[in-house]
Amino acid sequence: MTSVAYKGRAALVAGGLGFIGSNLAIRLVGLGADVTVVDASIPGHGANAFNLDPVRDQVRIVGADLRDGERMDVLVRGQEVVFSLAGQVSHLDSMADPLADLGLNYASQLSLLEACRRSNPHARVIFAGSRQQYGRPQYLPVDESHPLTPIDVNGINKTAAERAFLLYHEVYGMATCALRLTNTYGPRMQMRHPRQGFASWFVRLALEGREIELFGGGVALRDFNYVGDVVDAFLACGADDRALGEVFNLGHARPVSLREFTEILLDLAGGGSSRDVPFPPERASIDVGNVYADFSKIREALGWSPRVDLREGLALTVEYYRAHYKHFW
Ligand SMILES: NC(=O)c1ccc[n+]([C@@H]2O[C@H](COP(=O)([O-])OP(=O)(O)OC[C@H]3O[C@@H](n4cnc5c(N)ncnc54)[C@H](O)[C@@H]3O)[C@@H](O)[C@H]2O)c1
Repeated sequence: MTSVAYKGRAALVAGGLGFIGSNLAIRLVGLGADVTVVDASIPGHGANAFNLDPVRDQVRIVGADLRDGERMDVLVRGQEVVFSLAGQVSHLDSMADPLADLGLNYASQLSLLEACRRSNPHARVIFAGSRQQYGRPQYLPVDESHPLTPIDVNGINKTAAERAFLLYHEVYGMATCALRLTNTYGPRMQMRHPRQGFASWFVRLALEGREIELFGGGVALRDFNYVGDVVDAFLACGADDRALGEVFNLGHARPVSLREFTEILLDLAGGGSSRDVPFPPERASIDVGNVYADFSKIREALGWSPRVDLREGLALTVEYYRAHYKHFW
């Protein structure tokens, strides 16, 4: 169904030079879509021209910021589906510079929605939210009804942006929906620094044979999603009317500890080591503890479930970076 849905359709991927956006753009090209990527290549984020190397001659890449309303008016015109993967991932950076996070995670999304409302109100527009919107879970697994009490600025701005997406559906009848992503890993994540999450950083340390520090002993549980599964969820939202006006959790049926994630990774990489260390104070204050999501809503509505097991996904990840590390280190 999804594979047929994109043939010949015009799709815009905002943030398409980054990790998840580039994987989505590559898949869309494979499905026969007419793909445009817009990315401002924000310094320190995941933008990397190499990410689109496999489809370099088959996508239009535009350097523009979502907050530039006039440029976005032109870019959204004629697009049938707009995927918004542009944003700031780093929780630490959101605390260090909250106004920058406001710009990247909220103002940018509002600007994109406004451009669609003005210039292409019938486009389907899909938002990448985060499990960080829940804050410290009051119960597990968190479902979509769990209170949104974020404990960092990133979670607040993501929550505001998600709300704007739903508001534009309710007030203007626009075809919007939102996903709440959990820890995503796989090929094309940046690994120059650890501020965008530990997954890519741990992969780099393991491949370099270095030591991985496990904060608090790595006991926290997470539900990791391989990027190909996350791409499947975005494609399902872009192709199915049952997604409209809805928010869906992503997640994985088997939550694992950071320690287990690290052990599998070290085994696959064939090198490196790990050591337990106390949480640094700036991380402890925004750490959410155990968190994993109930994804039965999207499974029942759209038939999405993650297909890739952690070991299989990490093996694909290690293989990718072994071949391409020069473009990421
Ligand atoms: N990676 C994860 O584990 C994860 C988890 C939860 C949510 N998310 C969300 O998914 C989205 C994509 O994450 P990612 O890991 O691919 O990040 P990434 O940093 O690899 O990619 C984001 C891209 O967006 C671009 N960008 C940011 N602001 C922009 C703007 N205003 N205009 C144009 N381009 C802009 C950046 O240059 C970058 O290329 C983000 O919104 C993130 O918050 C990711």
